[in-house]
Amino acid sequence: MQEKLLEIIKEAGELFKEGYISSKEVTFKAKKDLVTKYDVAIEDFLKEKFSLAFPEFTIIAEESDNTNIEFNDSIIIDPIDGTTNFVNGVPHTCISVGVYKNQKPFIGIVYNPILEQLYTASIGEGAFLNGEKIIVSDDNNLQTSLISTGFPYTSGTCEADLNDVVKKMKNILPASQDIRRLGSAALDLCYVASGIYEGFYEMNLKAWDVSAGMIILSEAGGKVTNIDGDNYTLFKSKYIVVSNGSIHDEFLSCLNK
Ligand code: IPD
Ligand code: CA
Ligand code: CA
Repeated sequence: MQEKLLEIIKEAGELFKEGYISSKEVTFKAKKDLVTKYDVAIEDFLKEKFSLAFPEFTIIAEESDNTNIEFNDSIIIDPIDGTTNFVNGVPHTCISVGVYKNQKPFIGIVYNPILEQLYTASIGEGAFLNGEKIIVSDDNNLQTSLISTGFPYTSGTCEADLNDVVKKMKNILPASQDIRRLGSAALDLCYVASGIYEGFYEMNLKAWDVSAGMIILSEAGGKVTNIDGDNYTLFKSKYIVVSNGSIHDEFLSCLNK
């Protein structure tokens, strides 16, 4: 299945590259949440090809109405993760595809066509960047850890969420090496998987933001939880907290100070 998925995703990558250098009309889904015709075009392309190749899977995708779609044997798509980067010409943006069987992780693919970075993982087989095995870093000290985060779109409208973003940054910034906010949650997870970052956290992410990256991260030896240190549940948990595993407890207690 992975080979066929890759063939289709690589093809979608051509459309992605075309869109990245074109002028884009932007529509707003919410105050800070934007969408372009390329989000829709890439999603339509992937959905059409995936439903022909894998008719036994339901497809859950960001720009679609997923109300009556059951999550079970499912392919979860974010056609462009990091749309704000895509629109503004920041090359940190990707296609994210996570495959679940019986709601359990099966295959994760995150592809940045601009930088030609392809992250892949199949359950039990490890994680790879452009075919080379990747593993998480072995840093076990939060103070020397590079931490990544993202700001929820709700920070433009919900004061409680904005305050929580600021509070957690105040906790983490002095206690870590530094904080990054590059604007693609799927790639943030892959950067922890490949040992660039030691940890990442964000609130209000959707299943398509993390469905693939979570699989890649776990296969690279990383840890994924919610803010209480319990299992992170797709479609349910408010916060995702991921790390190389070694800093996880210290990271969680610092976030929750
Ligand atoms: C967004 C990106 C961003 C994160 C936002 C996401 P989108 O996805 O992953 O890094 O901070 O919360 O919604 O809208 O570009 O697909
Ligand atoms: Ca996204
Ligand atoms: Ca998106």
